[in-house]
Parts: sequence; structure tokens; C-alpha cells
Amino acid sequence: MFRPLIHHTFGPHVTLPYALRSLLLLLQPWQWRHGRHHEALRSKLEQSFGGRAFLFSSGREALLALLRSIGLRCGEEVILQAYTCVVVPNAIHAAGGVPVYADVDGDTLNLDLADVKRRITTRTRAVIAQHTFGIPANLNRLRSLCDERGILLIEDCAHALPDDGSSPLGRTGDFTLLSFGRDKAISGVSGGAILSRSAHVSSALQVTERHARPLPQSIIARYLCYPLIYRKARALHMIGLGTCALHLCKSLHLLLPIVTPEEKQGRMPPLLRQCPNACAALTLYTLGQLPKINAHRRELTLFYVRECSKQGWNILPGINEAHALQKFPLFFKKADLIRKSLKTQDIHLEDGWSGCVVCPRDSDAGALGFATGDDPKAESLCEEIISLPTHPTMSTKQARRLLTVLRETLGTLGIEN
Ligand SMILES: Cc1ncc(COP(=O)(O)O)c(C=O)c1O
Repeated sequence: MFRPLIHHTFGPHVTLPYALRSLLLLLQPWQWRHGRHHEALRSKLEQSFGGRAFLFSSGREALLALLRSIGLRCGEEVILQAYTCVVVPNAIHAAGGVPVYADVDGDTLNLDLADVKRRITTRTRAVIAQHTFGIPANLNRLRSLCDERGILLIEDCAHALPDDGSSPLGRTGDFTLLSFGRDKAISGVSGGAILSRSAHVSSALQVTERHARPLPQSIIARYLCYPLIYRKARALHMIGLGTCALHLCKSLHLLLPIVTPEEKQGRMPPLLRQCPNACAALTLYTLGQLPKINAHRRELTLFYVRECSKQGWNILPGINEAHALQKFPLFFKKADLIRKSLKTQDIHLEDGWSGCVVCPRDSDAGALGFATGDDPKAESLCEEIISLPTHPTMSTKQARRLLTVLRETLGTLGIEN
């Protein structure tokens, strides 16, 4: 008997209206590269979060564009947290900089301020504050630290975007990095942006954006197929054919990998590409839905906080019931074994953010300047993490089933908290 899939990665933003929009765009190839949505997205981002917005074909390219535009010199350092996605240090490398990993704060999975201070040198140009899984970083203290030391603060809002105009999140950094990737806070399948609050860096970003190349139509077509393929795969899963359908699509190259094998080896192509109008259209749609998406995430966060507390499971002290988390992290011994067992019950919790400090797991952390033993907290937490979905296509009913099966699985495996 097959049940609706519980997952992180099978089109988390792909609701029926989202899929219909993709289909409509797929039928209008003249809208793929250029059109009114690109500028509409720019205006909406500027209105919502302040600063000037510059759009690229991914968050990683937006970060590379920013680092070039601040004039990062060869050998200058950018502090980022251990427990991040490989594409972030890749962009620093590609800009000629040196990624310096600071350990995480065990309460929030965000930068540990004391460790950031220890790692600042005369070569430090910027600190990237990642609001991991939507848990807000301590922006007040980071802002003061960066101001005191004359360092730029880049907020990485790939995982978190507020729907409330008074939130400091996304508005405190000198720059805000946004990703419109498939499982991010808002999604256009692909795309990214920098919001700049510095006039002279904005001028450089404007030139950089103008020189970005359009993406090939064949890539945009595949981005637009992604929502349709995953929606179909989720339906086919009910008769046991979902995974086969996805394998087939991957082998036919209809689906593009989120992180390429070269990127996992620490290599990022130096070319910057434009954010396609079609991706901007889908991003704009999810940005319009942000209050609803965040309300849903808050509801699931609250549900997990309450139910997991009843079980006595470890909840990060930095999470509170009002957060709109992108994922809800829990920590157990033998996390891989638990995930493997859940998979046999149609619960796919592998999200690429487990068992590694530079994610996904098969990335070459050494090639990216990460030295094992340097960030002990991140290294131990990532071994035990199991994240629960909060995305727009995850229902409370599924969340309830997930917790029931998780509790049974822990019992069967004899795992205690
Ligand atoms: C924390 C974080 N920042 C930035 C990015 C880059 O986003 P993109 O996939 O759009 O390049 C990612 C991607 O996974 C991420 O997880």
C-alpha cells in the first residue's frame, strides 16, 4: 500500500496553481528569457526589503556577482558558518577569496559570535550570516561587530524571508542574498538576487548584471518541466512508480542537478547568467504567496514544537513557536539509520543537509578549505540531525503521520533521545 509521499525534495513548492503557471509559461517560449516579470520582481523585492535588487540565474551567481562588485581581492577572507551549502564557499573561491569557517551556535545552527570574533583578521572583508532553516541569526550583535571592525555584513536569506515589514531579517545586512531555488523560502525553480544598500557597490552590480548572459532556452525549458515532472511523480508514487519516473527523467536529462559534480569538487563556472523571465514569474508568484506560505510554515513549526516537546525530543533552544521554519531540525543518534527505516514507509527525509558540514555529503570539504576538527559543534550536530518538512505541499495530517512513524521507528530501533 502506497501512501502520499512525505519529503523535502519532491517539488516542495509545487502546488497545483504553481504547476499550472509553469505549464502556461512552458507554452510561451517567447516569455522564457525576457518579459515584464523580471522587472516586476525587481521592483517588488526593492519595495519589500529595501535596497536595490540585482537578479541572476541562481543565488550562488548572485553571491559571486556581489563579491566581484565589492572588489574582493585575491586572498581576502570571507567568514561563513560551517554547516552550509557547498555553493556558498564555491562562490567565495570563484571570486578569488578565502572561505573561513566559523563554528555554529548549538542553540540556533547559526554563526557562533565568539568564534566569528576569533576568526577575524586584517584580511577579513565580509561575514555571511545564514539564517539556517529559517532560524533567525543574531543580527543586532552581528551588525555591531561588523560595524566595529569595518567588515561587510551579508545576510543569506536563502532559507528565510519575512512576510512582515517590521522584521529586521533581510533588512539589516549591507547586502541580502536571496535564492529562488526549488526548496528555498520563495521559489522560481532557479534564480537568485542581491539586495544592495551601498550606492557604489550597486553601480558595480548594475554593470555586472548588464553583462550577464542569457541562459540557453533548453535549460529554461527544463526548469519549467521540473514542477510538472515532480507533480506527476508524486501522483505516480501512489501506485509505486514515482521513483522510477524520476530516474527515467534524470537519465533523459530532463531534470537538472541542483549541485553539479564539479561544484561538489569545489569548482564553480565563472560565467554569470541572467535570471530568466519565466523563473522571475514563478518567484513573483511565490513572493505574493509569502504570507500564506509563512503562515503554513509557522503552523507546522508550532505543531512540531508542541508534539516533539511532549515526546521529550531535543528541540533547539533557539527555535520558538512563532518561527516560520524552512525545516524543523531534531537530533538523534543513528540519524542515518532512522532515515533509512523511514524511507521504507514512504517518508523521504534525506535533504542533503545531514552528515556533512559542507553540504551535500559527497562534497569535497577539503577542496573548499574546510579542515576537519576546526568546527566541532557543527561537525557533531550534522551527524545527528533529522529535519522535518514544513514546505507548502506538506500537510498537518502528514506531519502527524510523520511523528507517529518516527516515534515507532525510534522504539523499534531502540534509540533513545
Ligand atoms: C544557505 C544557502 N545559501 C545560498 C544558496 C545558493 O542558492 P542557489 O541554489 O540559488 O545557488 C544555497 C543553496 O542551496 C543555500 O543553501
